[in-house]
Amino acid sequence: MVFLSRFRLVCGLGLCLLPAVRGQTPAGEPVKIGFFMSISGRDASFGEAALRGARLAVDDLNAAGGILGRPAALVVEDNRSLPGESATAVKKLIGRDKVVALVGECASSRTLEAAPLAQAAGVPLVTPASTNPKVTAVGDCVFRVCFADPFQGAVLATYAWKNLGRRRAALLVDSTASYSVGLAEVFSRTFTGLGGEIVASQKYGGGDKDFRAQLTAIRAAGADAIFLPGYYVEAGLAARQARELGLTATLLGGDGFEAPQLLEIGGEALEGAVYSTHYSAESADPLSRGFVEAYTRRHGSAPVGLAALTYDAVRLIADAARRAGSVEPGALKGALAATRDFPGVTGRTGFDENRDAQKAAAIIAVRGGRCVFVESVRP
Ligand code: PHE
Repeated sequence: MVFLSRFRLVCGLGLCLLPAVRGQTPAGEPVKIGFFMSISGRDASFGEAALRGARLAVDDLNAAGGILGRPAALVVEDNRSLPGESATAVKKLIGRDKVVALVGECASSRTLEAAPLAQAAGVPLVTPASTNPKVTAVGDCVFRVCFADPFQGAVLATYAWKNLGRRRAALLVDSTASYSVGLAEVFSRTFTGLGGEIVASQKYGGGDKDFRAQLTAIRAAGADAIFLPGYYVEAGLAARQARELGLTATLLGGDGFEAPQLLEIGGEALEGAVYSTHYSAESADPLSRGFVEAYTRRHGSAPVGLAALTYDAVRLIADAARRAGSVEPGALKGALAATRDFPGVTGRTGFDENRDAQKAAAIIAVRGGRCVFVESVRP
């Protein structure tokens, strides 16, 4: 056992020189983990990144002996980024596939749709990246491996005020997304608490493509920063339109900005933008380095934070099963709740009494057409 766990650690460090030496080959009934995400549709970049992270975790688990000696298997459902589809997906995963745990979603609104079903069935749900506080408040079956928006919003507002010297912020909020509404509230509260002013508050609906009317109002209000708590497609489009309208205000965003497509859509309009996220692939942490190397070898590009968080979410479920000595959903739930110091690629992960993790936020700036890590802010 000692040998095995040391061996696994070495592999995790990316220094594995003996690929032929593995954990025992898992055997028997697969342990099914349900995975639901936006693999296609508007937010497909999120689903793709998360799926890559989840698959790598399952492969690594199986190479190291599986879950309690059984093979780990991912049962994948695509909600096509559509409202209503996450509930359908989770019903299938629980009822038809009898999964022992669920990993999903990324968007808070979609996790909020699915979480009450997981709670009612007593099946633990681990969200890799939904940051709205209401998500884990659904009940004792719902866990998150990332920070929550009360922290993220405060980090952003403080950075805008202190480091960027912004004083007059405008908000452009997706009123259909819990994430956007909640994050805007925390940002406003912190920013005004520091002495700043919210000079305009404009709304749009997820999927909108034209933000010119809202941006014209923001221009008239004389904002020196525009906070866009949305996802990469709308953020990229709004950035372009803001510049076309002559707005020079600093663009600010949250973790929803993080997708390779952000820069493809927004282009030069995003130069100088600042956003917060969960993780930087530039991290020097040895576990993270091993993950970045394995991921990059497989996909030809470095992982975004969402891929890393999903990798951790899947492995955390396996770790809970090991500690519980069982994959029965009730036992898994108890062992998950007792997680205190799991060595994840996104950092040490443990759950507090609200089943939330406390993680640092990374500040990223767009400079010279690249997303550059600026600093890490601890809770
Ligand atoms: N935090 C966002 C939400 O709660 C989702 C997200 C996470 C998007 C990470 C991108 C990256 O809706």
